[in-house]
Amino acid sequence: MQILRTVGELRCWSRASRSRHGSTIGLVPTMGALHAGHASLIRAARAACSRVAVSLFVNPAQFGPNEDFSRYPRSFEADCALVEQLGADVLFAPSVEGIYPNGQASTFVEVPGLGDRLDGTSRPGHFRGVATVVAKLFIAAEPDRAFFGQKDAAQVAVLRRMVADLRLAVEIVVCPIVRDRDGLAISSRNVFLSPSQRAQALSLSRALRRVESMVAGGERRASILIAAAQEIFAVEPNIRIDYVALVDLSTLLPVETVVPGALFAVAAYVGETRLIDNVILR
Ligand code: PAF
Repeated sequence: MQILRTVGELRCWSRASRSRHGSTIGLVPTMGALHAGHASLIRAARAACSRVAVSLFVNPAQFGPNEDFSRYPRSFEADCALVEQLGADVLFAPSVEGIYPNGQASTFVEVPGLGDRLDGTSRPGHFRGVATVVAKLFIAAEPDRAFFGQKDAAQVAVLRRMVADLRLAVEIVVCPIVRDRDGLAISSRNVFLSPSQRAQALSLSRALRRVESMVAGGERRASILIAAAQEIFAVEPNIRIDYVALVDLSTLLPVETVVPGALFAVAAYVGETRLIDNVILR
């Protein structure tokens, strides 16, 4: 596995791969602190593409001023070992200046509307930072397919819209949420949870299971489903709800009743740690 540090190196690798091997190129964008969720994305890329690049960049542009950029978990050596073990061809690990020549973003990609919904409401500018860095990665790596996790459902909706609006020649592939055995969605931020917070964090997946079983039992009304999920959080003293919402998967706009493909999404702070989870209601 090669470690590439500059956008120029990534571009050369991608173009050479395509011309020498006629390869399909898969890109797995990450912020590092890799876990089983990322591993599933890399495996999916490996299965679908002949050449695979994993990017590892903690993107300052997607963190607000009071968010956890400086303490976001970083584990470069372990990440390299995992990426190599999973058979990726390239690990792209640029510096901040390599991505943002002036040290910070000055040209942005914005997806108005969508970018302000769900996580975009409580994290203003977050999706502008995500869209900007992912567009830069797409321009540099020119992937045929890029792999993202369903856990970040709003991010997926924003990036799909960006790809459609900019007519980028990349397919967004979405992989299922990976969960610990007890149901907690795996996230790089789970390392911040104390054992008691981790136990409380299970209320996110518990709320989703309850909603799923109510829908299976015939309930369709958003207000009833949202209230049932909120009830589960209400008994947890250290959980602060950010949002509980039933939305259309691609517009992220609220829907009144369950329609096929509606997304039930939750975000909550457990102590200081913000966690998200969701389920697509079939
Ligand atoms: O999902 C993430 O880890 C990040 O938002 C991404 C897509 C790598 C952009 O920094």
